[in-house]
Amino acid sequence: MCGIVGYTGKDSALTPVIEGLRRLEYRGYDSAGIAIPAEIGKPLFIEKRSGKLKNLEDALGKTPKSNSGIGHTRWATHGGPTDTNAHPHLDNEGKLALIHNGIIENYEQLRYELEKKGHKFKSETDTESVVHLLSDARKENNGDLAAAMRQVCKQLKGSFTLLAIHADDPTHIVGARRNSPLVVGIGDGENFLASDVAAFISHTKKALELGQDQVVDITPTSIEVTDLSGQKVTGKEFEISWDATAAERGGFSHFMLKEIYEQPKAIADTLIGRLSGLDLKIKFKKFNKIVIIACGTAYNAGLVGKYAIEKWGNIPVDVELASEYRYREPSLDKKTLVIPISQSGETMDTLMALRYAKSKNATILSVCNTNGSTIARESDAVLYTHAGPEIAVASTKAFATQLIAMYLIGLEVSRKLGTLTKNEIKQISEELNQLPAKVEQILETVEPLRQTTRKFKSAESVLFLGRHVGYPTALEGALKLKELAYMHAEGFAGGELKHGPIALIDQGTPVVAIMPTSGSLLAEKMASNIQEVKARGAIVIVISESDFAGADHFIRIPKVNQLMQPVLSVVPLQVIAYEMAVARGNDVDQPRNLAKSVTVE
Ligand code: M6R
Repeated sequence: MCGIVGYTGKDSALTPVIEGLRRLEYRGYDSAGIAIPAEIGKPLFIEKRSGKLKNLEDALGKTPKSNSGIGHTRWATHGGPTDTNAHPHLDNEGKLALIHNGIIENYEQLRYELEKKGHKFKSETDTESVVHLLSDARKENNGDLAAAMRQVCKQLKGSFTLLAIHADDPTHIVGARRNSPLVVGIGDGENFLASDVAAFISHTKKALELGQDQVVDITPTSIEVTDLSGQKVTGKEFEISWDATAAERGGFSHFMLKEIYEQPKAIADTLIGRLSGLDLKIKFKKFNKIVIIACGTAYNAGLVGKYAIEKWGNIPVDVELASEYRYREPSLDKKTLVIPISQSGETMDTLMALRYAKSKNATILSVCNTNGSTIARESDAVLYTHAGPEIAVASTKAFATQLIAMYLIGLEVSRKLGTLTKNEIKQISEELNQLPAKVEQILETVEPLRQTTRKFKSAESVLFLGRHVGYPTALEGALKLKELAYMHAEGFAGGELKHGPIALIDQGTPVVAIMPTSGSLLAEKMASNIQEVKARGAIVIVISESDFAGADHFIRIPKVNQLMQPVLSVVPLQVIAYEMAVARGNDVDQPRNLAKSVTVE
C-alpha cells in the first residue's frame, strides 16, 4: 500500500528515487510523484501524475540537479487517483513536501482546525493535513524538522510511514513510522529511506530496522533515530541476503511467470537445514490449541496447514481470517499458539489480529517472508520462508513456501508432542525433500496447458473443485483467477456442490477439478462430483496424478503424499490464471485495484 523512497547523498537524486519507485511500484500504482529541492530556500520542484510510474517518467522534463529527493507510488485510500491527490503534498509555501503510506484517522478534525488557522488545502487526501501540521510544527521548533515530526506524530491517529523534506535544509530527509514499514539503507556517503529494501538493493545491502513510533533523520553521512520523546534509539542493523538481480524480471515477460518458475528453489531454500528440527524456543507442550491467522493466499496456505498439523500433531487447529478475528472477541489464552502467516509481514489485518492475540497472552509464532517486518518483530518466534523477493502482486512462490512452513511446523509439533514415530517423521521428511524436483517436473510440462487456457478466455465464470487439501487449493486457484483475469471464479469443496453451487453450471462452464490421491475413497467421491458437473454441460479440466477417463482436458502431476499435494496442484492453477490474464490483455504484475502489501484495515 504505497511505496515510499528517499535519497540523500553524493549522486543526483533523481536516478535512485525513480529506480526505487520502479522497484516499489508493486505496492501501489494509482499515481506517482517526486519532490526535489531546486535551490536552497526556494519552492521545491514537484512532479506528480495519476496512473503508473511511466506517466510520471513521461512527464518529467528538465529537473533541477539535486543530491536529495523523495518519491511516492500510491494505492489510493482517501481521494481518487488524480494528479492533485497524488503525493508529495506541499505546505502553503511549497517548501515542505510530505509523502505518506497508511491512513490518518483523525485527518478531518485536523483539517478543520488547520483551515480555521488559514491553511489552504488542495486535495481530498488525509495526508495533506499532516503536511500543514508539520509546517506549523517546524516553525515552532525553529526549523528542526525531526523535532517537528516527533511533535506531529504524537497528534496523529492511525497508521503511517511519513517522509518529509524541506527546501531550507535539503540534505536532511526525515521519516517516521507507526504500523507501516520503513527501513533505512546505509550507504557510503549516501543514505536511503524506503518502504522495502528492494528500493535501494542495487546501492547497498546494509539496512537498519526502525521500530514503532520512531523518527529518523538522515543526511548523506548520518542517521539519527529517536523515539517520540526525542531519546536516541539504536536501530537494529541487518544484511540483505539477496541481490538486485532477484528483484529483476531476468528475461521473463512478467515477474509472476519468473516467480512461478522460482518455486522449486524457493521450496528447497525454505526446507534447507530444517528437516531435522526447528530452532524455535517455543514450548509446544503447553498448548491445547493452535490458531492460524492470515489473509488471502496466506489464509489458503493456513487452511492446508490445518490438515497437516492436526494429522501429524494431533492438536486442534483453527484457521481464521485475520480481518474478522479480533472483532468477534474469540476465546484464547496462554495455552493457545497463534500462527500469523504473512509474506510481507506488514498486512494490517494480520498485525491487528496478532496484537489482539498477544493481549490475551497467547504465544505468537509467525511465518513471514520479509526479514525484520513488523509482524516478525512483534512475534515471540519467527519461521522465515525463503521465497526471496516476491514482486508480482499475485502470490505464487510465497504460497508454496508458506505451505512448506506449515509442514515444517506440523513435523515440529509432532516431534515435540511425540505423535509420530521416528520412521514416520523420516518418511515425511524424505517426501518433503522430493517436492522441488516434482514441481520442476510440472513446470517442464505446462506448455499445453497454456494453449488450453486460452480457449476459455471468454468464459463467464470458472469453478474450481477440490476435496480435503484440494479444497483450499481450489480456493487459491479461484483467488488467482479473480485477481489476475478479473473473471468470476469460485472454489468449492466437491461435496458441497450439490448443496447449491451446482446451479451455476451451464453448457460450457469450465470446471477445474483437483483429484485427490488415486485409489483413495476421496478420489472416488471426487470422480462422482466430476460426473455430476459434466452431466450438466461443464467442460472439465482435471488435475490428477493418474489418468482420468472423463476429463475434457487433463493435467498430470507427480504422485505425492496427499497432504503435500497442494504444492504441486497449485502450479497448474497459477499457470491458468497467468495465461488467462495475458490472453485477456490484463496487467499481470499489477492487476487493477490491488496492492501487494495491504497496510490498511
Ligand atoms: O503479505 P501477506 O501474505 O500478509 O498478504 C496477504 C494477502 O494480501 C495476499 O496473499 C493476497 O491475497 C495476494 N495478492 C494473493 O495473490
